[in-house]
Parts: sequence; C-alpha cells; structure tokens
Amino acid sequence: MVSGVKIAVIGAGYVGLTTAACLTSLGHRVVCADIDPAKVRALSRGEVTIREPGMAELVGVGLAEGRLRFVVGAGKAAPGAEVVFLCVPTPMGPDGAAKLAALEAAVAELRDPLPPDSVVVNKSTVPVGTAARVGELLGRPDVAVASNPEFLREGSAVHDFLNPDRIVIGSADLDAAKRVAALYEALNAPVLLTDPASSEMIKYAANCYLATRLSFVNSIAELCERMGADVNDVTRGMGYDQRIGTAFLRPGPGWGGSCFPKDAHALLRSAAVIGSDFPLLRAAIDTNARQQRLVVGKIRQAVGGRLAGTRVGLLGLTFKAGTDDLRDSPALAIAELLAAEGAELVGYDPSMPGAVAGIRVVDSAYAAAAGASALVLLTEWPEFRELDWERIAGQISGRYVIDARNHLDPLVVHHAGLLHQCLGQPAPQ
Ligand code: UGA
Repeated sequence: MVSGVKIAVIGAGYVGLTTAACLTSLGHRVVCADIDPAKVRALSRGEVTIREPGMAELVGVGLAEGRLRFVVGAGKAAPGAEVVFLCVPTPMGPDGAAKLAALEAAVAELRDPLPPDSVVVNKSTVPVGTAARVGELLGRPDVAVASNPEFLREGSAVHDFLNPDRIVIGSADLDAAKRVAALYEALNAPVLLTDPASSEMIKYAANCYLATRLSFVNSIAELCERMGADVNDVTRGMGYDQRIGTAFLRPGPGWGGSCFPKDAHALLRSAAVIGSDFPLLRAAIDTNARQQRLVVGKIRQAVGGRLAGTRVGLLGLTFKAGTDDLRDSPALAIAELLAAEGAELVGYDPSMPGAVAGIRVVDSAYAAAAGASALVLLTEWPEFRELDWERIAGQISGRYVIDARNHLDPLVVHHAGLLHQCLGQPAPQ
C-alpha cells in the first residue's frame, strides 16, 4: 500500500511537472493532470520533454513506485485529492495583465469532484487577489484556498524545488496553510505563513525586484564603459557589501524568459488597474528594451556602421544557459532588431533548437562564425569558454567578438588576434 498525502497537480509544465515529481520524491502520492493527451501519454511512459537535470529520474521512480500518475483533465485528478496544486500557465494578455483563462477553466472542472476539506493551492504566478477569486469561483465553503508561489529557476528546477530559500504560504485558513506547510516538512527551509494577498505579492515583488536590479546593473555597465570604469570590478566591489550581495549582478543583453517580462508587465498593469503607478518598474522595463538596442548599436559599430548586407554570427539563442527555452529570449529580440536593419543572421545554440524565424541555425559555433562580419555571444553557455578561438579567427571575416554576457576570457580572444568587446568596459583598441 502506497502511503503519503494524496495530491493533485493541475498542469504538467515546468512548475507543475517539477511540483509533481518533487512532491512524489518527498513521499506523497501525486496525480498530475494536463489538458494535452499526447503529453500525458508520453509522461505516463516516463518520457520527459523538458530539459531539467534530475527530472527524468524522479518521474521514472515515481511511476515505478506507483506514486505518480498522469491523467487528462483537472476533473480526473480531483477525486480523493487532499491538496490540489494549480500550476497552469498565466500568460501575458495584450494589455499586460496575466490571463487567467486556464486557471478559471481548471477551477470550473474541479468544483464538483473536489472532496470536502480539501485545499486548493495556487502555485502559478497570479495577480494579487486571485486566491480570493478562486474561492468565489469554487463556491465550496468546505474547500480552503491557499497561495504558495514557486520560486524555482529553469535549468535547476528540481534542485531549487528541493532546496528552497523559503516556502511562502498564504491562506485565510491557518489550518489549511499548516496542512500545505506539512507537505514540505522534509525540506530545510524557513516557512512564511501569511495572508493570500501578501503571498501573491511576494512572488511579483521578488521577480520585479530582480529584474529591476538587472536593469540597474546594465545601466551602470553602460556608464562604466563611457567613463572608463570596469563593471566587472564595480559589481564585485558592490557585492562585498552584505546588504547587496554578489548574485544577480551580471550585466547582459537584457532579462528575458517566460517569467520576468510577463510578471513585470502584470504588476505594472495591476498598479494601473487600481489607479496607481510604478514608475521604477516602468523604467526597468524601458531600460531592458534600451539594453537590447545598445547591444545592437555595438554590433552595428563593429561592422562599420551599417548592418544591411552583413552577416552576423550569434552564439546562444536561449534566454539563459542551461535551458532550451527560447520564450522571450533577449537573444531573439536582438536578432529581430538586427534583421530589421538588413543583417543576415547565422546562429548556434548548444540546446540545438529546430528552426528559428529569421535565423539560419547551424550546428556549431564555428559554423556560426564562418564568414561573419561580427560574432556576438548572447547566452552564457559554459562551452563557449572552451572554443578554439584561433580556429574562429581563421573563419570569421571581421575581427570583432561582442560578448554581451561578459562571459569569455578576453585574453584568450585577444591572443587569437580578435577584438573582444564586452559590456561595461572601455572598447578595445
Ligand atoms: C525566474 C526567477 O529567478 C525564479 O525565482 C522564478 O521562480 C521564475 O523566474 C518564475 O517566476 O517562474 P528564470 O525565469 O528561470 O527564473 O530565470 P533567471 O535565472 O532568474 O534569469 C532571468 C533573466 O535574467 C535571464 O534572461 C538571465 O539571463 C538574466 N540574468 C540573470 C542576467 O542577465 N544577469 C544575472 O546576473 C542573472
């Protein structure tokens, strides 16, 4: 007989699948529902499509032990569930607000089959007030609602879930909050019990703070470059201050991915809806778009002032290293700006994406460099540090390597006879 709390997870995307697999590994019994029958069939065979270290193993063990099952539709997962996690997408709508259609559809499906005394927990990033709205939509006074935002990063999802910095649970029902907290008992992390609105706001505040911090660093990098300072030393010097810390201070081509841009716009929109504003966050978003234009400006300068008719090689297309996710990738936004000016784009990414609109995707960094007027590093994949720069120098037609992640060893690139241009440092002569 398999023991553990009976859990339903609605949604088998990044957050849902990680939640399902990790809760299984903590000793619970999980039924994970998705609307996509093909995905459910694949997962039931142990085929994991997302690239996350440790995920396939956890899913395999969960299936083998009979602790993990996949079903089609939220309604199928609800019977018998003591706790239900909502992990459905909340994409950005045209006005910037998070779209809650998937969440509302899941709640409608759960309404009748949910057992009495169960707890419905929002794990998706949802606007402040959504837990209260879920309660209304459910219309089940015998079912509690809680918010329990997830802070995992893509590329280290399993590790982050099992080693969280904190666990945040917001509910008007303290008993329900404690039942959710008990699911994580085996994890060594501080637990913050709060009200649902605060819990929902913590997630937005954390993501928007980090995004703002990066826009700040990117702006400092630009000033460093113009004023003869070195941003790598500047951020190191800032980071020694314990109030600041060293993490999340690396300048780059702008922040992206499926979370930061969406969440920044959603919080800004939420502020507007209540007749308020968030000028600092607006500035962070604008600075991010400006950062992409700044990188394009560097590339334009490197090819002699005119991009039309030049070939630009792109190293890295995903929104960060260690993932195959191209959603809202700054690399693709920059590629689009380059293409709009008439550049021909050849790109390589170690995650080997299929076709990418506007870019000829090749299967090695060397092929991306061949005949390029400039080579641009846009994603900090470790393997780019191991490249044979002599070989690249022999293939590239220009001399500039634009390192938009400050990722390469400048000496190695220089040694190959190339000009290494990174962010936040005076231009190479
Ligand atoms: C982010 C948050 O870090 C997670 O805590 C959160 O759970 C997640 O969003 C979410 O809301 O689901 P993720 O989107 O995986 O996680 O990406 P990050 O690793 O945070 O990177 C975000 C962007 O910032 C990337 O484009 C990355 O390249 C950029 N970045 C990060 C920098 O440019 N410099 C840095 O120093 C760090």
